[in-house]
Amino acid sequence: MNQCVISNIPTEFQVEKPVPEKEPERQDFFISLCRNYIKQNLEKGLTYAIVTFGCQMNVYDSERLKGVLERIGYTEAPEKEADLVIFNTCTVRENANQRLYGHLGQLKPRKKTNPHFMIGLCGCMMQEPEVVAKINTSYPFVDFLFGTFNLHRLPELLYARLQENKRMIEVLPEPKEHVEIRGAKRKYPFKSGVNIMYGCNNFCTYCIVPYVRGRERSRTPEDILQDVRELAEDGVTEIMLLGQNVNSYGTNFMEQSEIIDHEPEYGFPELLEAVCGIPGIMRVRFMTSHPKDLSEKLIRVIARNPKVCRHIHLPIQTGSTKLLQAMNRHYTKESYLELVEKIRAALPDVSLTTDIMVGFPGETEEDIDDTIDVVRRAAFDQAFTFIYSPRTGTPAAAMEQLPEDVVKARFQRLLDVVNEVAHRRCGRFEGTVKQLLVEEENDQIPGYVTGRTEENLLVHFPGEKSLIGQYIPVLLKESKGFYYIGEADGTENTLESE
Ligand code: 5AD
Ligand code: SF4
Repeated sequence: MNQCVISNIPTEFQVEKPVPEKEPERQDFFISLCRNYIKQNLEKGLTYAIVTFGCQMNVYDSERLKGVLERIGYTEAPEKEADLVIFNTCTVRENANQRLYGHLGQLKPRKKTNPHFMIGLCGCMMQEPEVVAKINTSYPFVDFLFGTFNLHRLPELLYARLQENKRMIEVLPEPKEHVEIRGAKRKYPFKSGVNIMYGCNNFCTYCIVPYVRGRERSRTPEDILQDVRELAEDGVTEIMLLGQNVNSYGTNFMEQSEIIDHEPEYGFPELLEAVCGIPGIMRVRFMTSHPKDLSEKLIRVIARNPKVCRHIHLPIQTGSTKLLQAMNRHYTKESYLELVEKIRAALPDVSLTTDIMVGFPGETEEDIDDTIDVVRRAAFDQAFTFIYSPRTGTPAAAMEQLPEDVVKARFQRLLDVVNEVAHRRCGRFEGTVKQLLVEEENDQIPGYVTGRTEENLLVHFPGEKSLIGQYIPVLLKESKGFYYIGEADGTENTLESE
């Protein structure tokens, strides 16, 4: 599926200096060419917007693309006004695809009113040949398109598009080496994602990720720790370690041909502990864990490192052992619940969140009963519930699909329980004081700011903008089910006396 190569990049560029072959020199070279081109040809500067669909990986990729565009000289603007709109797409579920096509249709008329207006597409959807073919024929006004393996080539594609005035489509198969992009433009100056691995080897039967993001490749600890050190020096205090299955980190390092089939000497627990040891880092999060690979060693490391946030996202997908097998998940309802017990015994306050899918082929009412049983027994703090959607090329797409109305009714039945349990769980900290990292001004309640507990709970409380980026103790006064209203601990009198 990821073998699609459509490329019309000119091999010769009209430039004086030779084009560097190595990275990152090559990206830097094209960044400065784009920069010069825009300066010389466009009096007013250009603006951009990146619209991101999907997971944290995409969010972080978009931050890097923003960094590149800003180095070129673009400034960020709302999507409605921007001269360049890039969609970083997701293809995990069908509805995200439909949303993209809807969006594209709406943007077309802007080409008439703004002569500089450009549309770019990237992300997981672009690794699907059928999608690229459809864009190619039905959306000729898209200016450039690239996939998940060539993000670093944005400046080169953009330059070719600006200079040659022709649309650039480049989707590559999985490369041997991954080229990093430096200098992300972070939404929050105090927190950042860090990729620890790319791709996935699990081939859950419903999932398209292994096809569009390639095989699992771990980055070396040296590279990761260097990134974290640089981020810490730049004021970042909270790190989110990112991977499709962080618990198998280290079983397949990049540039190493053999895959280890046992726990590696330097695996995720070791990496996590090393990240905690970097000066300036106050909180470490990670995402996503696979229940089959979450080891007791990792639980011990979390327990002895207070910097690791007490929040584990542990997708279960379904509570039915029969369906888990059909999904190729390699665990059972019972083994999942045992794992939850072990986690809760070692980390009593931990927040556990999960992903659940409804409507997988072959599912019965009894299977949903099993899922509901696990939701209650595992007492999830939050569960992200999805209706299964068949993805072309995955084994489950070839199985007999269930009727939509049956799936919708089951989905609602599950959602009611998920909400009831999450509501109850959220209330467990009412009346206690928790350390918050203050993230932003609250856009609903004037004079309030919003912070996050290590358990990933949001708290809105009266406070000044100057608190953003700081860690402060806050009394969680009232649980609202999925968030809290709080009050800065011990500062009530100070606020009143002002
Ligand atoms: N249909 C619906 N949901 C899916 N997910 C992955 N693939 C599909 C699919 N084909 C969900 C899983 C996963 C989350 C990121 O998306 O629950 O954990
Ligand atoms: Fe998809 Fe399974 Fe890999 Fe997660 S672990 S990305 S659900 S194949």
